[in-house]
Amino acid sequence: MRIRFASVIAYAFATLAATVLSGLAFAEEEQLQARSVTPLPKYQQECAACHIAYPPGTLPADSWRRILNNLDHHFGTNASLDAASVKQIESWLTAHAANAGRATSAPPEDRITRSTWFMAAHDEVPASTWRRPAVKSASNCAACHTRADQGNFDERYIRIPR
Ligand code: HEC
Ligand code: HEC
Repeated sequence: MRIRFASVIAYAFATLAATVLSGLAFAEEEQLQARSVTPLPKYQQECAACHIAYPPGTLPADSWRRILNNLDHHFGTNASLDAASVKQIESWLTAHAANAGRATSAPPEDRITRSTWFMAAHDEVPASTWRRPAVKSASNCAACHTRADQGNFDERYIRIPR
């Protein structure tokens, strides 16, 4: 009787832990993955020429808004677009922006790579790795995430270049 009771408790605990863990994994997935979001062709066309089209869930709406309204001074370059394109991209990005948990507050310089979630996800990447010639910059997601252009950051598709 005693043993059975203990195993029931253990089972209940394991189930609870599994539920909590899958809940967390789901929240993370939902937050960062673009796979479930219908892509906007205009965004792919205009914002994937110099780097990948960063998934909308990687920044809060405020950051996207500021970025779209300062394209002539875009991280040291000029990425200006016509007003209609800016408007279309801005509404799509802000509609699918990070809206819960860790990514809610705007990171410094509105950089994904300076967000709390980004630094936590990459805390095991040594500083020297970011500086490798084949990586160049943390913003260069596709250097390591081989399916970043498809919005897939799953661990299975990470290859760190030497
Ligand atoms: C002419 C080239 C060019 C175009 C076009 C361009 N960008 Fe960028 N973008 C850059 C450069 C350069 C950086 C800085 C990369 C670095 O620091 O290594 C950058 C950085 C970014 C970052 C910050 C990445 C980080 O470090 O976290 C975001 C977000 C971003 N761009 C969004 C956009 C959006 C949205 C568009 C389309 C409206 C766009 N970019 C179009 C050149 C471009
Ligand atoms: C130098 C290689 C490198 C670059 C560049 C890089 N990452 Fe990563 N990324 C990693 C590694 C390594 C991990 C940790 C995998 C693990 O052990 O969980 C990771 C983890 C992640 C995760 C969590 C994945 C998961 O399943 O838990 C996300 C999301 C992510 N990166 C997004 C990005 C984005 C967005 C960019 C570009 C702005 C980027 N990464 C740039 C190497 C890189």
